[in-house]
Amino acid sequence: MPDRRTFLKSSLAAAAAALMGTGSAEAADSSLMGSVIYTAEHPGKWTQKEGSHAPVITVEGGKVKVQTNHPMTEKHFIVRHTLVLADGVVLGSRTFTAKDPEAVSTYELPKGYSGVLLATSFCNLHDFWLTETKI
Ligand SMILES: [Fe+2]
Repeated sequence: MPDRRTFLKSSLAAAAAALMGTGSAEAADSSLMGSVIYTAEHPGKWTQKEGSHAPVITVEGGKVKVQTNHPMTEKHFIVRHTLVLADGVVLGSRTFTAKDPEAVSTYELPKGYSGVLLATSFCNLHDFWLTETKI
């Protein structure tokens, strides 16, 4: 059985593969959306969980804040965030523990960057979520 790190890497690889050639999650293979990768628009089996699982992206002054409005308890918490640029470059990531008070991470944008940002958030019980925005 793959460990958590391996699973997270393969989840991100699946997301990246879905986005290759398009630079947009909107055009990703629809069979993955809502079954492997969950979004606010495609929550799949996690319908009604999107508000507490789809990461929220805020951009201000060259910095990006990713927040998942989710409780952080020992049994149920957000494990990790990543922020990925349109070309698949991972701008950064943050791994959380249940002891973190909230699932918030910040990243610095490459100077002058404009284009798609993809934020991922992984819940230990409710899988892998993706939010896309364009700046
Ligand atoms: Fe959850």
